[in-house]
Amino acid sequence: MSIQTINQNKDLKGLSLIAAHSHISGLGLDDNLQPREQSSQGMVGQFRARKAAGVILKMVENGSIAGRAVLIAGPPSTGKTAIAMGLSQSLGKDVPFTAIAGSEIFSLELSKTEALTQAFRKSIGVKIKEETELIEGEVVEIQIDRSITGGHKQGKLTIKTTDMETIYELGNKMIDGLTSEKVLAGDVISIDKSSGKITKLGRSFTRSRDYDAMGPDTKFVQCPEGELQTRKTVVHTVSLHEIDVINSRSQGFLALFSGDTGEIRSEVRDQINTKVAEWKEEGKAEIVPGVLFIDEVHMLDIESFSFINRALEDEFAPIVIMATNRGVTKTRGTNYKSPHGLPLDLLDRSIIIQTSSYNEEEIKQIISIRAQEEEVDLHPDALNLLTKIGQETSLRYASNLISVSNQLALKRRSDVVELEDINRSYILFLDSARSVAYLQEFSDQYIDDTGNVNIGGHTSKVEAAPAATASNGDAMDTSA
Ligand SMILES: Nc1ncnc2c1ncn2[C@@H]1O[C@H](COP(=O)(O)OP(=O)(O)O)[C@@H](O)[C@H]1O
Ligand SMILES: [Mg+2]
Repeated sequence: MSIQTINQNKDLKGLSLIAAHSHISGLGLDDNLQPREQSSQGMVGQFRARKAAGVILKMVENGSIAGRAVLIAGPPSTGKTAIAMGLSQSLGKDVPFTAIAGSEIFSLELSKTEALTQAFRKSIGVKIKEETELIEGEVVEIQIDRSITGGHKQGKLTIKTTDMETIYELGNKMIDGLTSEKVLAGDVISIDKSSGKITKLGRSFTRSRDYDAMGPDTKFVQCPEGELQTRKTVVHTVSLHEIDVINSRSQGFLALFSGDTGEIRSEVRDQINTKVAEWKEEGKAEIVPGVLFIDEVHMLDIESFSFINRALEDEFAPIVIMATNRGVTKTRGTNYKSPHGLPLDLLDRSIIIQTSSYNEEEIKQIISIRAQEEEVDLHPDALNLLTKIGQETSLRYASNLISVSNQLALKRRSDVVELEDINRSYILFLDSARSVAYLQEFSDQYIDDTGNVNIGGHTSKVEAAPAATASNGDAMDTSA
Protein backbone atom coordinates (compact mmCIF):
# COMPACT_ATOMS: atom_id res chain seq x y z
CA MET A 1 0.00 0.00 0.00
CA SER A 2 1.13 3.56 -0.42
CA ILE A 3 1.45 5.45 2.78
CA GLN A 4 0.64 9.09 3.08
CA THR A 5 2.45 11.24 5.53
CA ILE A 6 1.35 14.76 4.84
CA ASN A 7 -1.28 16.35 6.96
CA GLN A 8 -1.97 19.69 5.42
CA ASN A 9 -3.62 21.60 8.25
CA LYS A 10 -1.14 20.92 10.96
CA ASP A 11 -1.66 24.02 13.01
CA LEU A 12 -5.15 23.02 14.08
CA LYS A 13 -4.06 20.40 16.54
CA GLY A 14 -2.57 20.52 19.97
CA LEU A 15 -4.77 22.95 21.84
CA SER A 16 -4.10 22.18 25.44
CA LEU A 17 -5.24 23.57 28.72
CA ILE A 18 -2.21 24.29 30.82
CA ALA A 19 -3.23 27.70 32.07
CA ALA A 20 -2.00 26.93 35.60
CA HIS A 21 1.48 26.61 34.16
CA SER A 22 1.29 29.42 31.62
CA HIS A 23 4.07 31.30 33.42
CA ILE A 24 6.52 28.51 32.66
CA SER A 25 8.52 28.76 29.44
CA GLY A 26 11.30 26.28 30.10
CA LEU A 27 13.34 24.61 32.82
CA GLY A 28 15.38 27.72 33.59
CA LEU A 29 18.73 26.06 32.97
CA ASP A 30 22.00 27.66 31.86
CA ASP A 31 24.18 26.34 29.02
CA ASN A 32 25.65 23.68 31.28
CA LEU A 33 22.17 22.49 32.18
CA GLN A 34 22.51 23.91 35.70
CA PRO A 35 19.37 25.48 37.16
CA ARG A 36 19.77 29.23 37.46
CA GLU A 37 19.85 30.55 41.04
CA GLN A 38 17.41 33.34 40.27
CA SER A 39 14.01 32.47 38.93
CA SER A 40 14.31 31.86 35.22
CA GLN A 41 11.75 31.02 32.52
CA GLY A 42 9.15 31.18 35.29
CA MET A 43 10.88 28.45 37.31
CA VAL A 44 11.78 28.82 40.96
CA GLY A 45 13.79 26.50 43.23
CA GLN A 46 13.38 22.70 43.02
CA PHE A 47 16.98 22.62 41.86
CA ARG A 48 17.70 18.90 42.02
CA ALA A 49 14.60 17.92 40.09
CA ARG A 50 15.20 20.59 37.46
CA LYS A 51 18.78 19.48 37.03
CA ALA A 52 17.60 15.89 36.62
CA ALA A 53 15.02 17.06 34.07
CA GLY A 54 17.88 18.77 32.24
CA VAL A 55 19.68 15.45 31.95
CA ILE A 56 16.53 13.88 30.53
CA LEU A 57 16.30 16.77 28.08
CA LYS A 58 19.83 16.00 26.89
CA MET A 59 18.91 12.34 26.48
CA VAL A 60 15.90 13.25 24.37
CA GLU A 61 17.91 15.69 22.27
CA ASN A 62 20.50 13.06 21.52
CA GLY A 63 17.62 11.04 20.16
CA SER A 64 19.41 7.78 20.63
CA ILE A 65 17.86 6.78 23.92
CA ALA A 66 14.27 5.66 23.91
CA GLY A 67 12.13 3.27 25.83
CA ARG A 68 13.11 4.69 29.21
CA ALA A 69 10.78 5.42 32.06
CA VAL A 70 11.13 8.34 34.44
CA LEU A 71 9.02 8.81 37.55
CA ILE A 72 8.62 12.25 39.12
CA ALA A 73 7.50 11.63 42.68
CA GLY A 74 6.69 14.16 45.36
CA PRO A 75 3.96 15.73 47.48
CA PRO A 76 1.09 17.64 45.82
CA SER A 77 1.86 21.14 44.56
CA THR A 78 5.60 20.64 44.39
CA GLY A 79 5.91 21.35 40.68
CA LYS A 80 5.83 17.86 39.18
CA THR A 81 3.52 18.90 36.35
CA ALA A 82 5.29 22.25 36.11
CA ILE A 83 8.65 20.55 35.49
CA ALA A 84 7.17 18.32 32.80
CA MET A 85 5.71 21.41 31.11
CA GLY A 86 9.06 23.17 31.36
CA LEU A 87 10.71 20.19 29.76
CA SER A 88 8.21 20.15 26.92
CA GLN A 89 8.88 23.84 26.25
CA SER A 90 12.60 23.16 25.98
CA LEU A 91 12.26 20.38 23.42
CA GLY A 92 12.88 21.29 19.80
CA LYS A 93 9.78 21.86 17.73
CA ASP A 94 10.20 18.58 15.90
CA VAL A 95 10.33 16.46 19.05
CA PRO A 96 6.85 15.27 19.91
CA PHE A 97 5.57 15.74 23.45
CA THR A 98 2.28 14.23 24.55
CA ALA A 99 0.66 14.85 27.91
CA ILE A 100 -2.16 12.79 29.32
CA ALA A 101 -3.58 12.34 32.80
CA GLY A 102 -3.84 8.80 34.11
CA SER A 103 -7.59 9.01 34.49
CA GLU A 104 -8.04 10.10 30.86
CA ILE A 105 -7.54 6.65 29.47
CA PHE A 106 -10.69 5.46 31.27
CA SER A 107 -12.86 8.30 30.09
CA LEU A 108 -12.37 8.08 26.34
CA GLU A 109 -14.59 6.00 24.16
CA LEU A 110 -11.60 3.82 23.45
CA SER A 111 -10.32 0.76 25.20
CA LYS A 112 -7.55 1.43 27.68
CA THR A 113 -4.93 -0.19 25.49
CA GLU A 114 -6.06 1.70 22.39
CA ALA A 115 -5.93 4.99 24.28
CA LEU A 116 -2.44 4.18 25.51
CA THR A 117 -1.29 2.98 22.09
CA GLN A 118 -2.43 6.27 20.57
CA ALA A 119 -0.63 8.22 23.28
CA PHE A 120 2.57 6.25 22.65
CA ARG A 121 2.37 6.71 18.90
CA LYS A 122 1.68 10.42 19.22
CA SER A 123 5.02 10.61 21.00
CA ILE A 124 7.10 9.12 18.19
CA GLY A 125 8.08 11.43 15.41
CA VAL A 126 9.04 10.33 11.92
CA LYS A 127 11.22 12.79 10.09
CA ILE A 128 10.66 12.20 6.42
CA LYS A 129 12.82 13.45 3.58
CA GLU A 130 11.04 13.80 0.32
CA GLU A 131 12.13 15.04 -3.07
CA THR A 132 9.53 17.27 -4.59
CA GLU A 133 9.33 19.04 -7.87
CA LEU A 134 8.53 22.70 -7.65
CA ILE A 135 7.70 25.38 -10.14
CA GLU A 136 9.16 28.62 -8.88
CA GLY A 137 8.89 31.94 -10.63
CA GLU A 138 7.40 35.41 -10.90
CA VAL A 139 3.81 35.64 -12.03
CA VAL A 140 3.49 37.62 -15.24
CA GLU A 141 -0.20 37.21 -15.78
CA ILE A 142 -3.16 35.24 -14.51
CA GLN A 143 -6.06 34.90 -16.83
CA ILE A 144 -9.23 33.25 -15.58
CA ASP A 145 -12.31 32.51 -17.69
CA ARG A 146 -15.41 31.77 -15.71
CA SER A 147 -18.09 29.94 -17.61
CA ILE A 148 -21.44 31.68 -17.45
CA THR A 149 -23.04 28.76 -15.66
CA GLY A 150 -20.58 29.18 -12.83
CA GLY A 151 -19.34 25.72 -12.11
CA HIS A 152 -16.32 25.15 -14.25
CA LYS A 153 -13.38 27.50 -14.35
CA GLN A 154 -10.49 27.61 -16.76
CA GLY A 155 -7.45 29.75 -17.00
CA LYS A 156 -3.86 30.37 -17.88
CA LEU A 157 -0.90 31.27 -15.74
CA THR A 158 2.11 32.96 -17.25
CA ILE A 159 5.14 32.66 -15.06
CA LYS A 160 8.82 33.49 -15.58
CA THR A 161 12.31 33.34 -14.23
CA THR A 162 15.04 35.72 -15.29
CA ASP A 163 15.85 33.21 -18.04
CA MET A 164 12.57 31.86 -19.30
CA GLU A 165 8.82 32.27 -19.42
CA THR A 166 6.10 29.61 -19.71
CA ILE A 167 2.32 29.44 -19.85
CA TYR A 168 0.49 26.78 -17.84
CA GLU A 169 -3.14 25.74 -18.23
CA LEU A 170 -5.05 26.04 -14.98
CA GLY A 171 -7.77 23.74 -13.67
CA ASN A 172 -10.37 24.40 -11.00
CA LYS A 173 -8.19 23.43 -8.09
CA MET A 174 -5.26 25.61 -9.10
CA ILE A 175 -7.55 28.57 -9.70
CA ASP A 176 -8.99 28.18 -6.22
CA GLY A 177 -5.50 27.93 -4.78
CA LEU A 178 -4.35 31.10 -6.55
CA THR A 179 -7.44 32.96 -5.43
CA SER A 180 -7.20 31.94 -1.82
CA GLU A 181 -3.53 32.88 -1.69
CA LYS A 182 -4.47 36.21 -3.37
CA VAL A 183 -1.76 35.78 -5.96
CA LEU A 184 -1.28 38.77 -8.26
CA ALA A 185 0.96 39.55 -11.20
CA GLY A 186 4.34 40.44 -9.76
CA ASP A 187 4.23 37.87 -6.95
CA VAL A 188 6.95 35.26 -6.73
CA ILE A 189 5.33 31.92 -6.04
CA SER A 190 6.22 28.29 -5.65
CA ILE A 191 3.94 25.47 -6.72
CA ASP A 192 4.40 21.94 -5.43
CA LYS A 193 3.86 19.80 -8.53
CA SER A 194 2.56 16.72 -6.78
CA SER A 195 0.17 18.30 -4.31
CA GLY A 196 -0.62 21.51 -6.19
CA LYS A 197 0.07 23.53 -3.07
CA ILE A 198 0.84 27.17 -3.80
CA THR A 199 3.11 29.25 -1.59
CA LYS A 200 3.61 32.95 -1.98
CA LEU A 201 7.30 33.75 -1.47
CA GLY A 202 6.98 37.52 -1.76
CA ARG A 203 6.76 40.31 -4.33
CA SER A 204 9.31 40.73 -7.03
CA PHE A 205 11.78 43.62 -6.56
CA THR A 206 10.96 44.83 -10.04
CA ARG A 207 7.54 45.76 -8.65
CA SER A 208 8.79 47.67 -5.65
CA ARG A 209 7.53 50.95 -7.13
CA ASP A 210 4.10 49.51 -7.61
CA TYR A 211 2.30 50.93 -4.61
CA ASP A 212 -1.10 49.50 -5.45
CA ALA A 213 -0.51 45.95 -4.48
CA MET A 214 1.49 46.50 -1.33
CA GLY A 215 0.74 46.21 2.33
CA PRO A 216 2.99 47.39 5.16
CA ASP A 217 4.41 43.89 5.59
CA THR A 218 5.11 43.15 1.94
CA LYS A 219 8.27 41.14 1.51
CA PHE A 220 10.35 41.70 -1.60
CA VAL A 221 12.31 38.89 -3.22
CA GLN A 222 14.43 38.46 -6.33
CA CYS A 223 12.87 36.96 -9.40
CA PRO A 224 14.25 33.37 -9.51
CA GLU A 225 16.97 32.52 -11.98
CA GLY A 226 17.39 29.54 -14.29
CA GLU A 227 14.83 26.82 -14.87
CA LEU A 228 11.22 27.21 -13.77
CA GLN A 229 11.09 23.65 -12.53
CA THR A 230 13.36 22.80 -9.64
CA ARG A 231 13.83 19.82 -7.37
CA LYS A 232 14.01 20.29 -3.65
CA THR A 233 14.22 17.99 -0.68
CA VAL A 234 11.72 18.91 1.94
CA VAL A 235 11.80 17.47 5.42
CA HIS A 236 8.71 17.19 7.55
CA THR A 237 8.05 15.51 10.85
CA VAL A 238 4.82 13.74 11.64
CA SER A 239 3.93 11.42 14.47
CA LEU A 240 3.27 7.74 13.97
CA HIS A 241 -0.25 8.39 15.21
CA GLU A 242 -0.86 10.97 12.51
CA ILE A 243 0.32 8.52 9.88
CA ASP A 244 -2.01 5.90 11.41
CA VAL A 245 -5.01 8.18 11.24
CA ILE A 246 -4.37 9.53 7.76
CA ASN A 247 -4.02 6.02 6.41
CA SER A 248 -6.79 4.29 8.23
CA ARG A 249 -9.33 4.19 5.51
CA SER A 250 -12.45 4.51 7.57
CA GLN A 251 -11.37 7.79 9.08
CA GLY A 252 -9.12 9.84 6.84
CA PHE A 253 -7.13 12.77 8.07
CA LEU A 254 -10.19 14.84 8.96
CA ALA A 255 -10.48 12.65 12.03
CA LEU A 256 -7.33 14.31 13.33
CA PHE A 257 -9.18 17.56 13.86
CA SER A 258 -12.36 16.19 15.30
CA GLY A 259 -10.23 14.06 17.62
CA ASP A 260 -12.68 11.33 16.87
CA THR A 261 -10.21 8.76 15.68
CA GLY A 262 -11.84 5.64 17.07
CA GLU A 263 -9.96 2.38 17.26
CA ILE A 264 -7.32 1.96 14.61
CA ARG A 265 -6.95 -1.54 13.22
CA SER A 266 -3.76 -3.29 14.15
CA GLU A 267 -3.15 -4.35 10.54
CA VAL A 268 -2.92 -0.68 9.59
CA ARG A 269 -0.36 -0.09 12.31
CA ASP A 270 1.63 -3.18 11.32
CA GLN A 271 1.81 -2.04 7.72
CA ILE A 272 2.88 1.43 8.77
CA ASN A 273 5.56 0.08 11.09
CA THR A 274 6.96 -2.07 8.30
CA LYS A 275 6.94 0.84 5.89
CA VAL A 276 8.56 3.24 8.33
CA ALA A 277 11.24 0.67 9.15
CA GLU A 278 11.86 0.34 5.41
CA TRP A 279 12.17 4.09 4.97
CA LYS A 280 14.58 4.16 7.87
CA GLU A 281 16.73 1.48 6.21
CA GLU A 282 16.72 3.41 2.93
CA GLY A 283 17.68 6.62 4.68
CA LYS A 284 14.41 8.30 3.74
CA ALA A 285 13.18 8.66 7.27
CA GLU A 286 14.53 9.11 10.73
CA ILE A 287 12.77 8.13 13.95
CA VAL A 288 12.52 10.90 16.52
CA PRO A 289 11.63 9.42 19.91
CA GLY A 290 9.69 12.03 21.85
CA VAL A 291 8.25 12.25 25.32
CA LEU A 292 5.02 10.82 26.67
CA PHE A 293 4.05 12.43 29.97
CA ILE A 294 1.51 10.57 32.11
CA ASP A 295 0.39 12.76 34.98
CA GLU A 296 -1.28 11.26 38.07
CA VAL A 297 0.00 7.88 36.97
CA HIS A 298 -1.36 6.15 40.09
CA MET A 299 -4.79 6.37 38.45
CA LEU A 300 -3.73 3.65 35.98
CA ASP A 301 -4.53 0.04 36.74
CA ILE A 302 -2.39 -3.08 36.59
CA GLU A 303 -3.37 -3.88 32.98
CA SER A 304 -2.32 -0.43 31.83
CA PHE A 305 0.96 -0.74 33.68
CA SER A 306 1.81 -4.03 32.05
CA PHE A 307 0.90 -2.51 28.70
CA ILE A 308 3.38 0.30 29.35
CA ASN A 309 6.02 -2.18 30.40
CA ARG A 310 5.64 -4.01 27.12
CA ALA A 311 5.39 -0.88 25.01
CA LEU A 312 8.71 0.34 26.40
CA GLU A 313 10.35 -2.68 24.81
CA ASP A 314 8.95 -1.80 21.41
CA GLU A 315 11.18 -0.85 18.51
CA PHE A 316 9.57 2.59 18.39
CA ALA A 317 9.27 3.72 21.98
CA PRO A 318 9.31 7.23 23.42
CA ILE A 319 10.69 8.29 26.78
CA VAL A 320 7.84 7.91 29.24
CA ILE A 321 7.71 10.38 32.11
CA MET A 322 5.22 9.65 34.86
CA ALA A 323 4.23 11.77 37.85
CA THR A 324 2.63 10.75 41.10
CA ASN A 325 2.01 12.10 44.57
CA ARG A 326 1.31 8.72 46.14
CA GLY A 327 3.54 7.00 48.66
CA VAL A 328 3.19 3.32 49.37
CA THR A 329 -0.22 2.46 48.06
CA LYS A 330 -2.20 -0.24 46.30
CA THR A 331 -1.88 -0.60 42.55
CA ARG A 332 -5.35 -0.34 41.08
CA GLY A 333 -6.74 -3.71 40.15
CA THR A 334 -4.58 -5.60 42.65
CA ASN A 335 -4.38 -6.12 46.37
CA TYR A 336 -0.68 -5.42 46.52
CA LYS A 337 0.86 -2.35 47.95
CA SER A 338 3.95 -0.95 46.32
CA PRO A 339 5.95 2.28 46.35
CA HIS A 340 4.05 5.01 44.43
CA GLY A 341 1.44 2.42 43.45
CA LEU A 342 3.62 1.31 40.55
CA PRO A 343 4.09 -2.44 39.98
CA LEU A 344 7.61 -3.44 40.91
CA ASP A 345 8.72 -4.47 37.43
CA LEU A 346 7.89 -1.01 36.08
CA LEU A 347 9.33 0.71 39.12
CA ASP A 348 12.50 -1.27 38.62
CA ARG A 349 13.09 0.11 35.16
CA SER A 350 12.24 3.68 36.11
CA ILE A 351 14.64 6.34 37.21
CA ILE A 352 13.07 8.47 39.91
CA ILE A 353 13.15 12.23 40.27
CA GLN A 354 12.05 13.52 43.68
CA THR A 355 10.42 16.88 44.22
CA SER A 356 10.26 18.36 47.69
CA SER A 357 8.20 21.01 49.43
CA TYR A 358 9.03 24.67 48.94
CA ASN A 359 10.30 27.05 51.57
CA GLU A 360 8.67 30.37 52.35
CA GLU A 361 10.83 32.41 50.00
CA GLU A 362 10.15 30.06 47.08
CA ILE A 363 6.41 30.06 47.67
CA LYS A 364 6.47 33.82 47.75
CA GLN A 365 8.33 33.98 44.46
CA ILE A 366 6.03 31.52 42.73
CA ILE A 367 2.95 33.38 43.92
CA SER A 368 4.27 36.70 42.74
CA ILE A 369 5.18 35.22 39.35
CA ARG A 370 1.64 33.83 39.10
CA ALA A 371 0.19 37.23 40.05
CA GLN A 372 2.25 38.89 37.33
CA GLU A 373 1.10 36.28 34.85
CA GLU A 374 -2.54 36.92 35.76
CA GLU A 375 -1.90 40.67 35.68
CA VAL A 376 -2.93 41.09 39.28
CA ASP A 377 -1.37 43.75 41.47
CA LEU A 378 -0.76 42.36 44.97
CA HIS A 379 -0.13 44.67 47.93
CA PRO A 380 3.01 43.43 49.80
CA ASP A 381 0.85 42.52 52.82
CA ALA A 382 -1.48 40.54 50.59
CA LEU A 383 1.51 38.72 49.11
CA ASN A 384 2.77 37.89 52.60
CA LEU A 385 -0.58 36.50 53.65
CA LEU A 386 -0.89 34.44 50.47
CA THR A 387 2.58 33.08 51.13
CA LYS A 388 1.56 32.06 54.63
CA ILE A 389 -1.59 30.42 53.25
CA GLY A 390 0.54 28.65 50.66
CA GLN A 391 2.80 27.27 53.37
CA GLU A 392 -0.02 26.12 55.57
CA THR A 393 -2.39 24.73 52.96
CA SER A 394 -0.97 24.28 49.48
CA LEU A 395 0.68 26.32 46.82
CA ARG A 396 -2.10 25.51 44.41
CA TYR A 397 -4.79 26.73 46.77
CA ALA A 398 -2.88 29.94 47.39
CA SER A 399 -2.45 30.59 43.67
CA ASN A 400 -6.13 29.93 43.09
CA LEU A 401 -6.92 32.68 45.60
CA ILE A 402 -5.06 35.23 43.43
CA SER A 403 -7.77 35.54 40.81
CA VAL A 404 -10.59 35.16 43.32
CA SER A 405 -9.21 37.95 45.49
CA ASN A 406 -8.72 40.08 42.43
CA GLN A 407 -12.43 39.76 41.65
CA LEU A 408 -13.23 40.89 45.18
CA ALA A 409 -10.87 43.84 44.83
CA LEU A 410 -12.42 44.85 41.51
CA LYS A 411 -15.83 44.71 43.09
CA ARG A 412 -14.82 47.37 45.55
CA ARG A 413 -13.21 49.29 42.69
CA SER A 414 -9.61 48.78 43.68
CA ASP A 415 -6.83 47.94 41.23
CA VAL A 416 -4.70 46.54 44.00
CA VAL A 417 -5.45 43.37 45.93
CA GLU A 418 -5.23 44.22 49.63
CA LEU A 419 -5.05 42.12 52.75
CA GLU A 420 -8.82 42.23 53.25
CA ASP A 421 -9.48 40.72 49.80
CA ILE A 422 -7.29 37.73 50.62
CA ASN A 423 -8.97 37.39 53.99
CA ARG A 424 -12.42 37.39 52.47
CA SER A 425 -11.60 34.91 49.73
CA TYR A 426 -9.96 32.64 52.30
CA ILE A 427 -13.25 32.59 54.18
CA LEU A 428 -15.37 32.21 51.03
CA PHE A 429 -13.44 29.32 49.53
CA LEU A 430 -12.32 26.33 51.51
CA ASP A 431 -9.00 24.62 51.01
CA SER A 432 -9.08 20.85 51.02
CA ALA A 433 -8.15 20.42 54.70
CA ARG A 434 -10.95 22.66 55.91
CA SER A 435 -13.31 21.04 53.45
CA VAL A 436 -12.49 17.60 54.87
CA ALA A 437 -12.98 18.87 58.42
CA TYR A 438 -16.33 20.33 57.40
CA LEU A 439 -17.41 17.11 55.75
CA GLN A 440 -16.54 15.11 58.85
CA GLU A 441 -18.59 17.44 60.95
CA PHE A 442 -21.63 17.47 58.66
CA SER A 443 -21.25 14.11 56.96
CA ASP A 444 -24.83 13.06 57.70
CA GLN A 445 -26.12 15.73 55.31
CA TYR A 446 -24.24 14.37 52.32
CA ILE A 447 -24.77 11.35 50.13
CA ASP A 448 -22.53 8.59 51.49
CA ASP A 449 -20.85 5.94 49.39
CA THR A 450 -23.62 3.43 49.82
CA GLY A 451 -26.02 5.98 48.33
CA ASN A 452 -27.76 6.93 51.53
CA VAL A 453 -28.60 10.50 52.31
CA ASN A 454 -30.10 11.91 55.46
CA ILE A 455 -32.71 14.53 54.69
CA GLY A 456 -34.65 16.11 57.54
CA GLY A 457 -34.05 13.23 59.92
CA HIS A 458 -34.98 10.26 57.68
CA THR A 459 -32.71 8.36 55.38
CA SER A 460 -33.45 7.89 51.69
CA LYS A 461 -31.63 5.99 48.98
CA VAL A 462 -30.08 7.78 46.00
CA GLU A 463 -30.12 5.84 42.70
CA ALA A 464 -26.58 5.59 41.35
CA ALA A 465 -23.99 5.56 44.07
CA PRO A 466 -21.22 8.03 43.36
CA ALA A 467 -17.74 6.60 43.00
CA ALA A 468 -15.78 6.60 46.20
CA THR A 469 -13.46 9.55 46.37
CA ALA A 470 -9.97 8.95 47.52
CA SER A 471 -9.13 11.02 50.54
CA ASN A 472 -5.83 9.35 51.15
CA GLY A 473 -3.46 7.12 49.25
CA ASP A 474 -4.95 3.88 50.45
CA ALA A 475 -8.59 4.51 49.78
CA MET A 476 -8.36 4.13 46.03
CA ASP A 477 -11.33 2.92 44.10
CA THR A 478 -10.20 -0.38 42.68
CA SER A 479 -13.46 -1.50 41.18
CA ALA A 480 -12.98 0.14 37.75
N1 LIG B 1 9.40 25.42 40.75
C1 LIG B 1 8.33 26.12 40.33
N2 LIG B 1 8.49 27.28 39.70
C2 LIG B 1 7.43 27.97 39.26
N3 LIG B 1 6.15 27.59 39.42
C3 LIG B 1 5.91 26.43 40.05
C4 LIG B 1 6.99 25.63 40.52
N4 LIG B 1 6.47 24.55 41.11
C5 LIG B 1 5.14 24.66 41.03
N5 LIG B 1 4.78 25.78 40.38
C6 LIG B 1 3.40 26.21 40.11
O1 LIG B 1 2.62 25.90 41.26
C7 LIG B 1 1.39 25.28 40.92
C8 LIG B 1 1.34 23.86 41.45
O2 LIG B 1 2.37 23.06 40.89
P1 LIG B 1 2.11 21.68 40.08
O3 LIG B 1 3.19 21.52 39.08
O4 LIG B 1 0.73 21.64 39.56
O5 LIG B 1 2.29 20.65 41.28
P2 LIG B 1 2.17 19.06 41.25
O6 LIG B 1 2.03 18.61 39.84
O7 LIG B 1 3.45 18.60 41.88
O8 LIG B 1 1.00 18.73 42.10
C9 LIG B 1 1.32 25.32 39.41
O9 LIG B 1 0.65 26.50 39.02
C10 LIG B 1 2.77 25.38 38.99
O10 LIG B 1 2.92 25.97 37.73
MG1 LIG C 1 0.39 17.70 38.96
